[in-house]
Amino acid sequence: MVTAIAEKRQQSVLASAQMIAADKRYKILQTSMKRHQNQGDALIEILHRAQELFGYLDTPQLKFVAKGLKIPPSRVFGVATFYHFFQLKPKGRHTCVVCMGTACYVKGADKVLAGIEEQSGIKAGETTSNNQVSVLTARCIGACGIAPAVVYDGAVTPRQGIENARKHIKEWMSNGS
Ligand code: FES
Repeated sequence: MVTAIAEKRQQSVLASAQMIAADKRYKILQTSMKRHQNQGDALIEILHRAQELFGYLDTPQLKFVAKGLKIPPSRVFGVATFYHFFQLKPKGRHTCVVCMGTACYVKGADKVLAGIEEQSGIKAGETTSNNQVSVLTARCIGACGIAPAVVYDGAVTPRQGIENARKHIKEWMSNGS
């Protein structure tokens, strides 16, 4: 029993390490922390940066920041939940984060966002009334070469047009999965 629990824990640590290695946004966040000499007093600034990159703050990012700044996760969670300007993971079953950084914007991210908002019937920062979809924006997710980029349920997706973005939302809204 103990072995099974330890194995499960090890698998989850491995999965989260792989996720971090595959997602460029964590690298950018790490660079920001390094710029602050990984000092704990940069916590609020780093959380702002994380929110800019991810659109919201979720457990893996908060744990990553705690580790990077060498402070207890409880302090990071405490700060993230205390200040109203930090948005924790939205309650939608699916999340769609549209990058509105300069490179994506000049390639039409505003139009992609407008299409997504129209298709979902909500504005950025909101969740549909059936809790199916949350729409968010971020600022430069570190994928400028594939602009305009949209992150669907954590998957950074390149060169989004209005039509394929709308299609994505339509599928989420209709099949309920
Ligand atoms: S501006 Fe969108 S990825 Fe850099």
